[in-house]
This record gives sequence, C-alpha cells and structure tokens, in this order.
Amino acid sequence: TKVLIVCGGFSHERDVSLQSGHRVGGFLEEAGWNVAFHDIDGGLLPYLSDPDTRPDIVWPLLHGAIGEDGSIRDVLEMERLPYIGSRAKASRTAWSKPIAKNVVRKLAGLNTPYSVTLPESMFRELGAERVVQLVDDSLGMPLFVKPTMGGSAMGCSQVNSAKELPHALIDCFAYGDVAMLERVVEGTEISVSIFDIDGELLVLPPLEVAVHSDNYDYEARVNPEASDFYVPARLDAPVLAAAQDAALKAHQTLGLRDISRTDFIVDEDGVPQFLESNVAPGMTDTSQLPQAATAAGYDLGDLYSALVESVLR
Ligand code: DAL
Ligand code: MG
Repeated sequence: TKVLIVCGGFSHERDVSLQSGHRVGGFLEEAGWNVAFHDIDGGLLPYLSDPDTRPDIVWPLLHGAIGEDGSIRDVLEMERLPYIGSRAKASRTAWSKPIAKNVVRKLAGLNTPYSVTLPESMFRELGAERVVQLVDDSLGMPLFVKPTMGGSAMGCSQVNSAKELPHALIDCFAYGDVAMLERVVEGTEISVSIFDIDGELLVLPPLEVAVHSDNYDYEARVNPEASDFYVPARLDAPVLAAAQDAALKAHQTLGLRDISRTDFIVDEDGVPQFLESNVAPGMTDTSQLPQAATAAGYDLGDLYSALVESVLR
C-alpha cells in the first residue's frame, strides 16, 4: 500500500505544512508503511496519473488555502483516490470562520463570540474613520480582527483601542479580502481533537494553551518556548466534558470526517465558545493535536496507522 503525504503548497502556511507532513509521514514509515511525500508546489495531477507514483491513499497535510478550502479534496475525489480527512464540501464550510460559526450556533446550539464581517471593498469605500466609528458603535473594543479564511493566526490581531483598528484591518486584508471582527472573550484557550476510526469517534481530552505573551500568534505557534500546554486543560471535570461534547457536535454538524481539531475559549462561566474547527490541524512536534494524543497515552504511530487502515477499509 502506497501512502502519499501531500504537503507544502503555496499557502501562507507552507512551512508548517512541510513540518506536519514529514512528521506524520515519519511516524507512518516507522510503523512500516510505504510512504511518499509530494509538495504540490510542483503540481499534483501528473504525479497522481503516473502509474509509477500513483498512490493507494493520500493524506493531505496541507494547511490553509487549497488544503483546507476543499480544493485538493475535489481533485482527489475526481481522481477516485481514497484520502484521509473531511470531504471537499465540509472542508469548505469549516474553512470559512463566519459560516462555520453560524452552522454550529444555529444547528448545534453552540455558543460563539459575537462577530461581524467586513469586506476590504467596504473598508476602502467608507474609509477608516467611518469604519472605526461603526465598529465602535456595534461591537466595541477589545476585539479580534481575523481573515475569514486563514490559519496559524496569520493576519490576526487583537485590537484594544479604536486607533489600532485601521492598521489591524490593513494587515488582515493582506491575507484575505474579508475580515471578521470578533468580540474578545476572556477565559481559557483550549482545543479538542477528534479521530474517527472505524466509525468510532475518539474525542481527546481538551488541551489548554497558556501563552506567555498576550497572544497565541504565529510566533507563539511555531516557537515551543512561547506557550505551555496542559492536557487535560486546567478546568473542572464538567467543563472538560462540556468542551468535548461541543467539539463532537461541531465535528458532526459541520460534517467533518476522520480527523479534526476544534478551538474554543472557555469563558468565565465555564461555557465553551466556539472559535473554529480545523480540517487539517497542525501535526508538527509542537502542535496541539499530537500533544493531546500523546498526553492521553496514545502512540502516534499506532494512532495514525489505525486512521489510515480505517480509511482504506
Ligand atoms: N492552521 C494550523 C496549522 C493549525 O490549525 O494547527
Ligand atoms: Mg485554524
């Protein structure tokens, strides 16, 4: 059985993807799988159609656009190749933060911080001053500015006062043409990772991210010294259970498959506030999903192998 790890690509998260891909592939190789790696920077279709390189199964470990917006999954579906992870349509839904928030709020009754979206064209048309005024009236500060589609916190910033907003928006628009402005919820940042193996949903214990600086930004994400992880999160048992239940609901309502990581802020009342679900969560040494799995007593080689076998069956 040939397993192809597709990683790299041309999204802003290329570097993280290369690390995730090689890490997962390394575990699979150690577990005895015949693994090949392919960076889609060099195209994908010729690789898939060449009988010498055509795999039996693909694990797309691409973060960001192409990887998480459904595109590569459409290609794999057209090629009739089994692959690990959510289908194209579900990926696309999860990839848009405002759409995903709406889905889990309306269909699963989850809580999510109040947010509005702002297209770059509107920002240009109204001008910074008017936008600041509108935002101040409708949302207030502090707030997070995030690209509606994006990962690894790129283009995200916390805005504490009106004068910081225009700069944050301009930074955000470098990563996408629509910004999401989200109310800041004070609380504990956690993630819940889920594996779906042979129809059994394995919901890992919530992992808490305690960042030493103010923000869990790109630097904090790639630098292991910048934050501490606690598994399980330092929360009461009923709160941990509520977070696992919320992640399960998000996974199911968004129609996700095989693997996901859902991020929340647990607010001061112990309510998990949904931020997003990731269909291609980071899988580097310092990423949350592998750390949660290891802390819960799983061997990563065994776990990843079981997932590949389950998709092949
Ligand atoms: N987007 C990064 C890779 C993550 O969610 O872990
Ligand atoms: Mg993400």
